[in-house]
Amino acid sequence: MSEVDKLARLEALLFVAGDPLSYEDMARFLGVEVAEAEGLIEQLKRRYQRDPMSGLIVRQIDGAASLATKPSCADTLEAFYGKVRDLKLTDAAYETLAVIAYNAPATRAEIEAVRGVNSDSVVSRLIERGLVREVGTLETPGRPALLDVTEQFLMDFGLSSTRELPPVDLMMYDTITEFTQERQSAAHLAPAPRPLVVAIDGPSGSGKSTIARLLSEHLGILSLDTGAMYRALGVKAMRLGISPSDQERVRAMLSETSMDIDLTDRVQKTIVDGSDYTPYIRTPEASRAASDISALPITREYCVRIQREIGKKQALILDGRDIGTYVFPDAPVKFFVTASEEVRAKRRLADLERAGDSSTLEDVMREMQIRDRQDSERQLAPTKRADDAILIDTSDMSVREVVDVMIDVIRQREQIQPLWSQGRHG
Ligand code: DC
Repeated sequence: MSEVDKLARLEALLFVAGDPLSYEDMARFLGVEVAEAEGLIEQLKRRYQRDPMSGLIVRQIDGAASLATKPSCADTLEAFYGKVRDLKLTDAAYETLAVIAYNAPATRAEIEAVRGVNSDSVVSRLIERGLVREVGTLETPGRPALLDVTEQFLMDFGLSSTRELPPVDLMMYDTITEFTQERQSAAHLAPAPRPLVVAIDGPSGSGKSTIARLLSEHLGILSLDTGAMYRALGVKAMRLGISPSDQERVRAMLSETSMDIDLTDRVQKTIVDGSDYTPYIRTPEASRAASDISALPITREYCVRIQREIGKKQALILDGRDIGTYVFPDAPVKFFVTASEEVRAKRRLADLERAGDSSTLEDVMREMQIRDRQDSERQLAPTKRADDAILIDTSDMSVREVVDVMIDVIRQREQIQPLWSQGRHG
């Protein structure tokens, strides 16, 4: 059977199936391997995306896929069917759904602990509407039911997995984590699932930060630009007239420095001593100071502690130089992105031009070579590809293409082993 033939049959299969069909079933009906079925789905998905004359899309939901209609056609379909589903939910229902979606499987007691009110009747209504279901019971006295959101919930909210949910509010996460830990120590269960960490390392201008931002939007998890932290400390040292290479003076400075990372709305603000340093950290002087100050062990200790704290609390994409080798050596997904020196210098130059800087390509290239050498030759945590990091050369790739490759890798890894596995990052 030719590839074209397989694609046509797959489309027909999804059309008659209606409900999501697992990749295993697709493979069985088409007589191909599961990996090939997944590849065919990707092709079909892209074909619909490219074709403005098609009213269909492929919707992927945890190991399965179905045909669905394009959101832009909704009003026409509503006119045909009447309003297909009334999606209006009460605030209590939304809140309860959020607690379940972020913490699945969750018990009624957990939901009550987070919301502060008994939620049994809301849960019952959500079960009736097919948005929540019982997926098992907890082996503790009373054997409480474990609840999870349904495929219907994912479809209604346009998600392919609960991991696409927007980042959770930290306060809520803390409450849930504490509660889960108490429950587990009472029941002698395994420790809480560890949050997913995606490590993206590489030299300057390799596109790490832009890639991390886009990936963050796609996966619905926060991203942390660790370079910004070293840059902010470099800027503070410059302002105080401290040489960023002066270990003793930097040590004294750090003992009186507070740093907060604000990731609200996925836009990073690097706050030092209560002031947002973000507008001042992208100049050539700040780059130089960051490279110098980041070579000091005391600075690395300071920043890495904050990075690990944030990564322990929630799923996180971190971009930097040493994330996969030093900060989170057991991160389940690691990438090392690079590009030719010329491409990297041109990207940096474009950033600087946008910021109104008048550096030339030669200036940028020279600066970059010095910084790259310094960052990769320093003793502690130099820029280095971890043995298990996937190398991506972005010289001839668009950001979108790089992100697509990364998403594919993450999805493939998830199929082999759930990425939210047992144990915690140390
Ligand atoms: O990625 P960037 O250009 O914004 O990084 C600024 C500097 O900080 C760079 O010279 C290397 C250093 N850095 C580091 O040492 N470790 C990190 N995890 C991130 C950046």
